[in-house]
Order: sequence, then structure tokens, then C-alpha cells
Amino acid sequence: MLAGIARLTALGLCRSFLPRGFQRQNSFIFTLSYPRRNLHLSKWRAASENAIKTLGYDINIRHNPPQGFFIREATFVDIEEITDLWFKSFNDRRYISSKFFDVAMPESQATRDFLRDLLSMSIRVGPSKLVTHVVEDLSNDGKIVACGQFSPPQPDGPVDLPFPQFPKEWDPEIADALWGKKSDSRALLLGKQPHWWGIFVLVDTEYQRKGLAFPLMDWACHQADATGTPMYGIGTPMGYPYWKKHFGFRERKMLDFPVRPETYGVYYMVSIVRPPRVAGTSSIVQV
Ligand SMILES: CC(C)(COP(=O)(O)OP(=O)(O)OC[C@H]1O[C@@H](n2cnc3c(N)ncnc32)[C@H](O)[C@@H]1OP(=O)(O)O)[C@@H](O)C(=O)NCCC(=O)NCCS
Repeated sequence: MLAGIARLTALGLCRSFLPRGFQRQNSFIFTLSYPRRNLHLSKWRAASENAIKTLGYDINIRHNPPQGFFIREATFVDIEEITDLWFKSFNDRRYISSKFFDVAMPESQATRDFLRDLLSMSIRVGPSKLVTHVVEDLSNDGKIVACGQFSPPQPDGPVDLPFPQFPKEWDPEIADALWGKKSDSRALLLGKQPHWWGIFVLVDTEYQRKGLAFPLMDWACHQADATGTPMYGIGTPMGYPYWKKHFGFRERKMLDFPVRPETYGVYYMVSIVRPPRVAGTSSIVQV
């Protein structure tokens, strides 16, 4: 047992000298042969037709972040940072004029607990159903400054995901319109057609306009094009013009939220669909 403790302590010490990306590779903590094992793993992955089925995406399609940033898959260790990022992205009143998210998902302990549960369920279901990527600022100790979550295509269309209970303090009508079945027009727009689903993209307000949302969505669009599948998403008033301009999404359905004259007034989002592009051309496949 003492030998075991000594070995784990030594591994912990070694691990603390590694870059943060490696520290978070849970598999490394338990093995000394990480590089060799990973080499075998990547060979196996590249060679195996089943890899896409298992992972839900093609590992040969890589992210292309701006210099000084690194993109990797999120792990349980990141949940706290992603929760903070959620508020920095949606609730920063210095940059976002609408009070909608302050009302729908106020920055409170209950909302934090909800987001923690949501993220932990998302990571637990695995990349064949949900893949969450984080962008690290390498000049700031790998701080997580952006995050994107996508669901790869499922064989029979819409994917059902585990979901935590809404906090009691939330306005139930708004919560239902934002997270419930009403907001999810995927089945209506795409039927049982397999599709990618852009669930959310968060960018720390201090890091917006640096090209960080772009590589997250660009990766997913390349994945979608490689398999000829459309991409579905819901855009905020701030987000959807961006997705439309840079990625070719089209507005498909307006989502109205309950009117609350005493707080945010009126708010809407838009269901958007991006048809896949034919590989190697700019032609769009009709969906
Ligand atoms: C919408 C959102 C995701 C965009 O993220 P972002 O990381 O700022 O996006 P980018 O930096 O890739 O691009 C934003 C703009 O900055 C420009 N830009 C990118 N890199 C730049 C740079 N280095 N210097 C100057 N401008 C730059 C882009 O061209 C783009 O401008 P344009 O749309 O007028 O052409 C982000 O504003 C956000 O998180 N908003 C709050 C939450 C939200 O609404 N999320 C979307 C849910 S649908």
C-alpha cells in the first residue's frame, strides 16, 4: 500500500509540471506510458472505421484556433470554469443590452448547480452523443475562455439527452421556452434526418472578436460536410447573424419568449439550419 501511495505521489508531482492540457488527460494520471500508449491509440483510431461511430466525429478533422490558443475536449475538471464562462458570456451586462439571461438564468447558486449538473451529464454521455470543446488561453495559464458543445448525428435523427431539473427560483414559463420541447424545433425542421446540433457556444466577453467562436463552429461544420449532414442550432440575437454570415446558416423559425415588460420586455431567438456543403466546392446540398 505504501508503495502505491509513493507511486501516486510521484505521478502527481510529475503531473504538476506538465502543461495544463496534459494534466487534464485523466488517462495520464494512471499510466507512465502515456506517449507510447497514445501513439498506438491514434494509429488505431485512424485505421478503424468504427472510430467515428465510437467518438461521434472524425479525429482527422482538427481545430484551427488563432495563435496563442489551444482547443481540446472538456473533462469533468473543467466544469467549474465552464460554469463561470457561461455567465461571462451570457450575463455580462457591460456588453449585452438585453436583461433576458439575467431573468431566465440569473447568476445564482441554483443556476450554478443546474449548469454543473448539465455539464457533468453532458460529459458523462460521451462524444458519440455530445462533444464539448474548450478553448484555452495559453498566455494565461490555460484559462478557459471559450467553449462549444455539439451533438453529432444520430442514426434516427433527434437525440434525447439527460437533463437536470429546472431550479425552483426560475420563471417556469421562460425556462420551458428556453430549454423545453417548445424551443426544440429540430424534429419539425429536420424530421428523422441525421444532423449535427450546435447546442451552445460561449465566449468570455473579454475575449470576443478574437476569432475564438470561429474554430469551434468551423470544426463542427467540417464534420457535418464530411458526412453530408445538416447542422441545426438556435441563435441568440447576437449569435445568429454571425452564424449566418460566416457559416451559411439560414433562419428557419422564430422562437418568441414570454413577454416580461417589467424586466427584459420582449426577447426572441431563431432556429437556424446550415445545409452541408459538397466536399471541395462551395455548393450547398438542399435539405
Ligand atoms: C456570438 C459570439 C459567439 C461570437 O464569438 P466571437 O468569438 O466574438 O466571434 P469571432 O471573434 O470569431 O467573430 C466576431 C467578429 O470579430 C471579428 N474578428 C475575429 N477575429 C478578429 C480579430 N483578431 N480582430 C478583430 N476582429 C476580429 C470577426 O470577423 C467577426 O466580425 P463580423 O461578424 O462583423 O465579421 C459571441 O459574441 C458570444 O459568445 N456572445 C454571447 C453569447 C451568445 O450569444 N452566444 C451565441 C449563442 S447562439
